Amino acid sequence: MTAGLSRLFLDHFFRSSLVAEVNDRLVGFLVGFLSPSQPTVAYIHYVAVDPDFRAKGLARELYTRFFDLARADARTVVQAITSPQNHRSIAFHTSMGFTVSAPYENHDGPGTTRVRFDRTL
Ligand SMILES: CC(C)(COP(=O)(O)OP(=O)(O)OC[C@H]1O[C@@H](n2cnc3c(N)ncnc32)[C@H](O)[C@@H]1OP(=O)(O)O)[C@@H](O)C(=O)NCCC(=O)NCCS
Repeated sequence: MTAGLSRLFLDHFFRSSLVAEVNDRLVGFLVGFLSPSQPTVAYIHYVAVDPDFRAKGLARELYTRFFDLARADARTVVQAITSPQNHRSIAFHTSMGFTVSAPYENHDGPGTTRVRFDRTL
């Protein structure tokens, strides 16, 4: 996970990111930001929930709070991406009302096929 989540996201986007804790234990997080270049767009870079705490609505709660944060800044769309093999993420985002694009190649250079999620707020 650390490969896709360098420290800069924690240092510079913590005000638009969320953590979930149970008894001081980190059980989930969402790293997102309000695009500084696209004024209508909010972007979710990463979400993860501890396997012991999945299927309890935790990621839904994190997303719902991020949507509220984005709406409060007049953002009208939320975007995210994942690899086409991440069926769990695709199922989750579909449940959350995102559209799923067809896979497209070379997103981050050769060999990096991705799908994009879009959801209107
Ligand atoms: C994807 C992930 C964040 C979902 O977290 P979660 O807390 O278990 O999800 P929730 O319980 O909030 O589920 C919300 C909705 O998504 C659906 N969903 C979640 N995981 C699903 C799965 N594996 N298969 C099918 N549907 C799923 C739920 O059914 C639920 O829909 P509903 O509210 O209509 O019933 C979690 O599985 C995870 O951490 N995965 C590994 C990290 C990852 O792949 N992150 C995404 C990178 S883009």
